[in-house]
Amino acid sequence: MTPSRLEDLAVFGSTPAFTEPRHVGRPNMPDRERVLELVGEAMDRRWLSNEGPLHEAFQERVRQITGARHCVVVANATLGIQLAARALGMEGEIIMPSFTFVGTPHAVSWIGLEPVFAEIDPRTHTLDPAAVRTAIGPRTGGIVGVHLWGRSAGAEELEAIAEEHDLPLVFDAAHALGCTRAGRPVATLGDASVISFHATKVAGAAEGGAILTDDAELAERLRRMRNFGFVAFDTVEGLATNAKMSEMNAAMGVASLERFEEFVAVNRRNYEGYVAGLQDVPGVEVIDYADGDEHNFHYVVLEVPAAVRDPLIRVLQAERVLARRYFFPGCHRLAPYAPAGASLSATDEVAGRVVTLPTGTAMSADDVARVCAIVRVAMAHADDVVRRLAADPAGLGR
Ligand SMILES: Cc1ncc(COP(=O)(O)O)c(C=O)c1O
Repeated sequence: MTPSRLEDLAVFGSTPAFTEPRHVGRPNMPDRERVLELVGEAMDRRWLSNEGPLHEAFQERVRQITGARHCVVVANATLGIQLAARALGMEGEIIMPSFTFVGTPHAVSWIGLEPVFAEIDPRTHTLDPAAVRTAIGPRTGGIVGVHLWGRSAGAEELEAIAEEHDLPLVFDAAHALGCTRAGRPVATLGDASVISFHATKVAGAAEGGAILTDDAELAERLRRMRNFGFVAFDTVEGLATNAKMSEMNAAMGVASLERFEEFVAVNRRNYEGYVAGLQDVPGVEVIDYADGDEHNFHYVVLEVPAAVRDPLIRVLQAERVLARRYFFPGCHRLAPYAPAGASLSATDEVAGRVVTLPTGTAMSADDVARVCAIVRVAMAHADDVVRRLAADPAGLGR
C-alpha cells in the first residue's frame, strides 16, 4: 500500500509499498533479440576479442555520442583511468576528490600513485578548484576530477590550474555519458576523460569503459597500452596491460547505445517525477541538473539533514525501496586511505546527508510517485521516525 500516515509505514509493521525490491542501479536492458543477434554474428565469425567488428562499432558510436575526436574502448573505467594516468606520465601524488566511488582512488593507487584528497564544493559535489590549488605541492603529478552524477562544475577552473602548473588532467566521467559542460561535450575536457559502461550506468556493456581524448597521439599510445603494447605481430613497444573489451561486452554495449536516448528520456521523466513529488517536502532537496548543460539524469540524489538520513533509508528499505548512501563515508575514511588522515569537513557533511533513489527503466512513473509518498510521510514525521527507530536500533536494511 502507499503510506499516507506514520502507522502505514512498513518499518512500523505495515505492509511494504512494493512487493518486489526497487534497486538503485538496476541495469537498463538492451533489446534481448538484438544482443543475441550480435553475439550470434560474433560467434559465426569466431572473432570474440582483440578489437573485433563489434568493438569497433561500439567505439565509434561512443565517440559520436561523446563528441570527442578519439575513443579508446577498454574493459572497464578503472583500467581506463589507469591507462590514461600511465599514458600521460602521471607520477607521485594525484589530487582528486574523496567524494567519489572508491574505484577512482583505487585506480591510481593500484599503479603505485598516491591519491591526495581535496575538498569538494558542497553545492556541486565536485572538486573545489581552490582546494586543488592548496593541495598542489612538489610531489603533485596530476589531477583526476570526477563528474559526479554527470555534473561537471569547476571543470574549466581545473583545466586552467592544470595548464598553469603543467599537470596532466584526467576526468573520471564514469557517470557522464551524453553530458555537456557550457556547451562542450564533457569528454573534450582535460587531457582525457573516462566513461564507465558498467551494468549500473545509464547505458551498459555489463562491464566496459571508454577513454576519450582530442589528442591523436595520446589515443594511439592508449590503444597500444590496452593490448599488451603490440604495434605489430611479434613487436611490443613498452610496458602495457590487457584492457581490451570482448565482443560479448561490445554486443551489449552496441545494443544498449541503440536505446540510449530512450534510457535518458525515462531517467528524465523519473527525475522530474521525483522533483514534482518532493519539491514542497521540508528538509528534502533533490540535487538539480538546471545548469544549462545536457544531462543523463541517471542519479536521483536527495540531500536531507544528517540526523534523518539513515532513518529515512531504513524506512525506504522496509518498503523494499533499496535507497542507498552514496559515496559514504568518503574514500578518505575507507581502510586503505584512512591512515593518511585527510580532514575533509565538506565531504563528511555531504556524504552524511546524501540518499540515492532508484531510477532507470525498472521504475515506472507510478513507482516514483509511491516512493515520493513514502519520503513525504517519513519527513512529515521526521522527529518521531528518528526517535522510534533509535529506540529499536536494528541495522540499515533490516
Ligand atoms: C565515479 C566512478 N568512478 C569509477 C567507477 C569505476 O567504473 P568501472 O566499474 O567501469 O571500473 C565508477 C563505477 O563503477 C564510478 O561510479
